[in-house]
Amino acid sequence: MNLKKRSSLTSLVVLLILTGLALLSSCEKYAAIIPEVNSADTVHFKSQIQPIFTANCITCHNGSRNPDLREGYSYASLRTGFYVNLPAENSRLYKQITSSSHYSFTLPAEKQLILTWIQQGAGNN
Ligand code: HEC
Repeated sequence: MNLKKRSSLTSLVVLLILTGLALLSSCEKYAAIIPEVNSADTVHFKSQIQPIFTANCITCHNGSRNPDLREGYSYASLRTGFYVNLPAENSRLYKQITSSSHYSFTLPAEKQLILTWIQQGAGNN
């Protein structure tokens, strides 16, 4: 194969790989629309935080692994396991959802919501 042909083949392969990557990353769940959190608003555990756990966490945290994030068990589990202590940024819950193993389980807006809820005292509200 001559040099010109080979380099255009290389460009084609590179282009294909880039297209593949672009397609893959567009499949991420970041397309969902979650309203921005205004930190002045009170975040409610039952209507705003538990649904995040129910949708994203209970396949694994279903009572066999701490914290138990199933509805009805999650609040006590988070409290007794000291997952939601202040300062919120250093809490075990926030650290875990922003860690590399857990980062992809929640959207940025969901992480922010959880952070704000902890900052506001992590009430069972
Ligand atoms: C695919 C399974 C899976 C999902 C989904 C998952 N986790 Fe986890 N989680 C684990 C495993 C395994 C560990 C322990 C190892 C580690 O730290 O990654 C863990 C650890 C944790 C810990 C630390 C436990 C401790 O005692 O230190 C917290 C807090 C946590 N997860 C919260 C969450 C939250 C909140 C969600 C949902 C947003 C979630 N996890 C979703 C598997 C999962």
